[in-house]
Amino acid sequence: MSEPVETAGAAAAGAVDPAEAPNLDFAGTTPYEDYVQADVLTHLQHLRSDDPGEMVFLVTTQVMELWFTVIVHEWETATRALREDRVPVAVDALKRSVRELEALNASWTPLAQLTPAQFNSYRAALGEGSGFQSAMYRRMEFLLGEKSASMLVPHRGAPRAHAELEKALQEPSVYDEVLALLARRGYAVPAAVLDRDLSQRYEPSPQVEAVWAELYAGDQNGELVRLGEALTDVGELVWRWRNDHLVATRRAMGAKTGTGGSAGVAWLEKRAAKNVFPELWTARSHV
Ligand code: HEM
Repeated sequence: MSEPVETAGAAAAGAVDPAEAPNLDFAGTTPYEDYVQADVLTHLQHLRSDDPGEMVFLVTTQVMELWFTVIVHEWETATRALREDRVPVAVDALKRSVRELEALNASWTPLAQLTPAQFNSYRAALGEGSGFQSAMYRRMEFLLGEKSASMLVPHRGAPRAHAELEKALQEPSVYDEVLALLARRGYAVPAAVLDRDLSQRYEPSPQVEAVWAELYAGDQNGELVRLGEALTDVGELVWRWRNDHLVATRRAMGAKTGTGGSAGVAWLEKRAAKNVFPELWTARSHV
């Protein structure tokens, strides 16, 4: 930080008034530090190689974990609000998450063009570490309806992450709460969908597709179409994250096996092909 510089000219122009300068005097750590914990946050970068490119790889991954955390918070807010029929509160939270997903996706930029040789410079140092083991990403997927009990297995040794994931596995996803809301509003959501085993992956239903087609044929400014559009924005941006990840991976390591032990790009291609909130996409063919 620069010291205020007082020159005769500047003083005459009234540029620096010490009474307007920020407070410099704190007994302990600064109130900024107490709130943000920047000292903790900026000392969590424990590099494992001497390669100068590893820092941005680690920090980008940490930044994405922070965005996952914010987005999970928004979607949990939306899920609760939907359950309580507070649709505007849910739409606000979903719309905030859309802006956050845009910021998340923009953070691919520093890693999007790694060459295989650049990635190889620190890849071995990652050992078996892989984003596949991200508990917060898994919570995002569970909130979208992409449930899978086997995804808890890697977290058996981490009690907090495991408990949070177990809870998210058993609880309704954002989409489950949307479909329950549509049923309460008189739309023909089948009982088999409403009473489904919540710990299982959501499977698309032709009757739900028909409900969305009916809604989308109606008032474009209606509350439920606006909810549908907020969900569609979320679905599109999650799909974009998966595809940006896929392309970055293809550039950085071609068809090699992943550090997490999967087939790598071939496995990610299957994951990226999935539609989030499937009937919101297929219903469009029938409007
Ligand atoms: C260019 C750098 C990257 C490469 C080459 C890469 C590669 C891979 C590969 C091959 C997989 C499949 C699992 C495995 O076998 O490891 C994977 C999964 C995953 N990666 Fe990355 N990754 C990169 C950057 C990132 C970053 C920065 C994040 C942010 C947290 C991330 C998050 C994930 C997640 C969440 C999965 C699981 C996806 C799913 O379950 O569908 N990756 N990655």
